[in-house]
Amino acid sequence: MFEPTLLEKVRSDTPVCSNLIHLHNCGASLMPSAVVDAVKAHIDLESQIGGYEAEDLASDRINLFYTSAATMLGCQESEIAFMENATAAWNAVFYGFARSLNPGEKILTAKAEYASNFIAYLHVARLTGCEVSVVPDDENGQLDAKALESMIDSKTKLISITHVPTSGGLVNPAQQVGQIARRFRIPYLLDACQSVGQLNVNVDAIGCDALSFTGRKFLRGPRGTGGLYINKDSMDIFPPMTLDLHSAKWDSLSSYQVSGGAKRYENWENNVAGLIGLGVAIDYANSIGFDRIEQRVLCLAGQLREKLASLDRVDVLDLGLMKSGIVSFSLHHKTAAELCMFLGAKKIQIGVSGIGSTRLDFESRQLKSINRAAVHYFNTEAELDILCEAIIEFCNT
Ligand SMILES: Cc1ncc(COP(=O)(O)O)c(C=O)c1O
Repeated sequence: MFEPTLLEKVRSDTPVCSNLIHLHNCGASLMPSAVVDAVKAHIDLESQIGGYEAEDLASDRINLFYTSAATMLGCQESEIAFMENATAAWNAVFYGFARSLNPGEKILTAKAEYASNFIAYLHVARLTGCEVSVVPDDENGQLDAKALESMIDSKTKLISITHVPTSGGLVNPAQQVGQIARRFRIPYLLDACQSVGQLNVNVDAIGCDALSFTGRKFLRGPRGTGGLYINKDSMDIFPPMTLDLHSAKWDSLSSYQVSGGAKRYENWENNVAGLIGLGVAIDYANSIGFDRIEQRVLCLAGQLREKLASLDRVDVLDLGLMKSGIVSFSLHHKTAAELCMFLGAKKIQIGVSGIGSTRLDFESRQLKSINRAAVHYFNTEAELDILCEAIIEFCNT
């Protein structure tokens, strides 16, 4: 339960909430003051004593990223790597795995797959001759688990799907997919970029081998940060695509040792202030609790869907049995970009999603461009009413 005092606290921890209605949390959310302060403090320290010296003094704050991410996902610290974004995290495991694919071997994915991932499948298919198969949706618009099962054969080498797509409220049945992947012993890679931070994501319950997440969206961390979870028993299945002197140790003219744990996917140089900020952001969310966060986000999103569905000339577009905090909709006779601009002038921030992000889904539904309003726990019911009133005003112009 998200008590009124907690709502007051999280809003006062994010002072800009009082003069901005931010519903673009699936693009980039607002950082709590503690995150901003931690990033600024580290940059200040770097400017005062030097970057390496500042890092030496920050080991506890650096470690917070690994401990808080492990607590959040229900895994070990050694199964977490810091990355500069979700794409880098996903690429770090996908490409290392995919280079050993042979002609005719199969990657199974789903209709709501994120563009960068699908481009990677096509790229690897071109390089190796492997094949990409798309599991159809069921009658609710989510990945059809039965169809997935029936498509698995001896050539299937990877199941790789997006948990929550960038462009709408769908939550794919990640746990059901994990049960199937385990039963058939097929490696399972999950893009959790939009789910981590708004849903209670537990890697053990889901049963994925690897999972990528980003900092700036629902986790409310700094831009240019992200992370990777990789199961300790899956690291050999997903060998790192690249190595450097942090992810490996150079022993002799002809030998090197890959670093232990998920650090083997990291680079030596990284954004230390960003890493510290993301650790603080995850710790902040852990202290609220992900059961509470998920409940609040889903409740607000459900209310927004109802309000929008009751308006004339508005179509709510979300698919799936369980729906996330991302509310997607379109207006009759008005473009998504026009609405975004109109609302922006009123300090109401929502997003636009185009066919370029989730092409398969958009093509099958004949969508070109839609609006997405993504709620977070710090949003209020009153803000949703203001959004809906502004949409009515816009539709009447
Ligand atoms: C589902 C999904 N996967 C991956 C990404 C890429 O994340 P990043 O920009 O942090 O690399 C996004 C970004 O919007 C996304 O929505």
